[in-house]
Amino acid sequence: MYKTSMRTHTAGELRQRHSGDQVTLCGWVDRRRDHGGLIFIDLRDRYGLTQLVFDPEIDAIAHKEAEELRGEWSITISGKVRSRAPGMSNPKILSGEIEIEVTKLIILSKSKTPPFSISDETSEVGEDLRLTYRYLDIRRGTILNHLVMRHKLTMTIRKFFDRHGFTDVETPILTKSTPEGARDYIVPSRVHHGMFYALPQSPQIFKQLLMISGLDRYYQIARCFRDEDLRADRQPEFTQVDVEMSYIDQEDIIKLMETLVQEIFKECLNIDVPQTFRKMTYAEATERYGSDKPDLRFGLDLIRMDDIAKNCDFTVFKEVIEHGGCVKAIKIPGGASSISRKDIEDFTTFVSTFGLRGLAWMKYTEEGLSSNIVKFFTDTLQKEIKEKADLHPGDLIFFAAADTSTVNQAFDHLRRHIGAKLGLMNPDHFEFLWVVDFPLFELNPETKQISSVHHPFTSPMTEDIPLLTSEPLKVRAKAYDLILNGSELGGGSIRIHDQNLQRKIFELLRLSPDDIETKFGFFIKALQYGTPPHGGLAFGLDRIAMLLTKSPSIRDVIAFPKTQKASDLMVECPSSVSLEQLRDLAISLTK
Ligand code: AMO
Repeated sequence: MYKTSMRTHTAGELRQRHSGDQVTLCGWVDRRRDHGGLIFIDLRDRYGLTQLVFDPEIDAIAHKEAEELRGEWSITISGKVRSRAPGMSNPKILSGEIEIEVTKLIILSKSKTPPFSISDETSEVGEDLRLTYRYLDIRRGTILNHLVMRHKLTMTIRKFFDRHGFTDVETPILTKSTPEGARDYIVPSRVHHGMFYALPQSPQIFKQLLMISGLDRYYQIARCFRDEDLRADRQPEFTQVDVEMSYIDQEDIIKLMETLVQEIFKECLNIDVPQTFRKMTYAEATERYGSDKPDLRFGLDLIRMDDIAKNCDFTVFKEVIEHGGCVKAIKIPGGASSISRKDIEDFTTFVSTFGLRGLAWMKYTEEGLSSNIVKFFTDTLQKEIKEKADLHPGDLIFFAAADTSTVNQAFDHLRRHIGAKLGLMNPDHFEFLWVVDFPLFELNPETKQISSVHHPFTSPMTEDIPLLTSEPLKVRAKAYDLILNGSELGGGSIRIHDQNLQRKIFELLRLSPDDIETKFGFFIKALQYGTPPHGGLAFGLDRIAMLLTKSPSIRDVIAFPKTQKASDLMVECPSSVSLEQLRDLAISLTK
């Protein structure tokens, strides 16, 4: 590390071998203990802790000055390194075998009493307070370590792409709407009154334009902005590892990205992840797990029970099937004893928030199936349930009956809820999965309009192109998402490089010729100049950092994040602007 003039060492660096050395350290007062005549201070900096001893017999002036020191004061000291007395070493810190006999103390700056303890991270502090004083929150250590890990992650990524011939290109932040499905953040123009820039939801169009430009291999660690409802793994501004390549097919990009992920886990966690990741079609993922991002660390698969439900006498099940819905089940091995009546009631309330009206269940014991609905199933049907779900004595089975998307959504959540309750989500276990063969379009049940599952630049599978007009919902896309432990790390696709096909997709999405011209005219124009076939992907950098640091919230891996309500409590934004600024922009506010 480059040595600077104010200190000879960091507070994490000194060991037995330095005994006798004269050193100068800088840092904060972590803790202070007075023992008779001696004053002990733990000095903290980013790198660690070092114990300082102020002994009146060694230096009466320094000792006198040390009496004044309080927590978080910024100081510099000089003195001699010495071994701690026998039995006094502290194995919890790396410099625990030595201490410094201080002969000179300078107070660099005093500190107010912090709003929460910096030295004791176990003390409970509300997140709002932590975010208001984020600089102190970072100083406590955990978030600081996450930022260091995040740096290691971006360094690994940059080295990887550089080695593989990619060029890092910055794309505009003040731009035009990019269709990634969220609301845009918009910025008014002072020069063009009534006109707005949009902040990019991703660099999607620009990276495709860079392929037309002949860049061949592009990457960028890019900021993206999306005005959408926030969750534990979503921020309004977040970072993507954005990649695009020319002359590739789906397998090329999948293989290269697997190599990148392997390198990230090796460099950052020293973990060897598999050479190739599992693949599952979108159809299978939604059928078996109710989700296009299943957590494969545990089973609890969804089992389709339509045939059995159709023939039983339980009207709820029968009617759902008659109306085109489905009945699926989840088996909990050993659940007859591990899941209580109260749990079942809680699960019923839980699934009701996802639109499921009830949660039927059966227990299987040596005596057979039991519950209030078993009577509606003939012996033959009960046998079929047992076979289909491979039930063993002691198992419990839940049933959901509704339209397929409600069943899938509710059981996806229930499956993960039970997985967490039963401790099946081991954070040290990493299960990667590529979900492939996504549909190109999805149907909005309310507007009955189709929209792109990924974005409108995604290429349909060549063999499905003839279905575009007749059965658009059956068209599969050349798209792929990488899932890790139920979290969508990234997604991408092979793009449309044919202007006519691109225009057709816009038309199918009900964009009028005028809309196509104003929103994407420049892009269609560019596609006319010998566009190379191309494709790519974007990873959520924050989400990778969350998984590497086992953080429950995306805010824990971002230096200055926004709250759930998209505000920054430290700088206090969003905030109002002056009338003069509004006047410059020709904007007036309604009450
Ligand atoms: P997509 O919209 O799937 O694809 O985004 C890629 C990845 O970005 C992460 N991500 C987010 N992370 C934090 N907060 C958010 N609000 C947020 N939104 C998305 C996710 C996601 O998988 N242009 C395409 C990529 C491509 O086709 O190449 C795109 O943006 O991890």
